[in-house]
Amino acid sequence: MEIKGIIFDLDGVICSTDEYHYQAWKKMADHDGIYFDRKINERLRGVSRAASLEIILEKADKQYSDEEKLALMTKKNDLYKELLSAMTEADVSKEVLDTLKELRAKGLKLAIGSSSQNTKLILSRIGLLDFFDGISDGTIISQSKPNPEVFIKAAGILQLKNENCFVVEDAEAGIDAAVAGGFHSIGIGSASSYEKAEHKINSFREIINLV
Ligand code: BG6
Ligand code: MG
Repeated sequence: MEIKGIIFDLDGVICSTDEYHYQAWKKMADHDGIYFDRKINERLRGVSRAASLEIILEKADKQYSDEEKLALMTKKNDLYKELLSAMTEADVSKEVLDTLKELRAKGLKLAIGSSSQNTKLILSRIGLLDFFDGISDGTIISQSKPNPEVFIKAAGILQLKNENCFVVEDAEAGIDAAVAGGFHSIGIGSASSYEKAEHKINSFREIINLV
């Protein structure tokens, strides 16, 4: 296995915006009297906004029209963006930043592969908008994880074969997407105990030992 590039998920891997997703969904759900908890939230990792809402609405006791669903998604995204607006460069840990720089110095190409349509906004808030060699995100894909499209597009931008890339993910759906696309995978955070992850790590820095 020759690794020439690494594709990083954003939320829950590069920064802790996974927690902000939870808080925004929770506020939206509470407001509408829909039961939602952290266990259900685990199923939303890596999944698009629309697919996330469908999972949340499994607990709703009424049917929502398309217009109502759109309104709920807009409400959640407004709440989420309010939380994002307080983010700064301090929201990327030194460990993540140092590791990224070390991987770059080793000659690896680095990309983002995120389902989020807020990817560029987040990267700019944390000062990493110009850091990566490629950004593949929720604005350029039609199928979200576990479909591998976002990673296939990232590898395409890096001009690398899928088999020469690592995908680093905190979502089971993201690991499934990596496997489906023929990428090597690294599970971290919530995906660090997922059996389908090829490598499992407990801290970001461990990526250095795998390349
Ligand atoms: C993923 C998150 O990165 O992006 C999901 O893990 C989220 O929880 C998805 O639903 C879409 O994000 P956004 O910012 O486009 O609503
Ligand atoms: Mg994630």
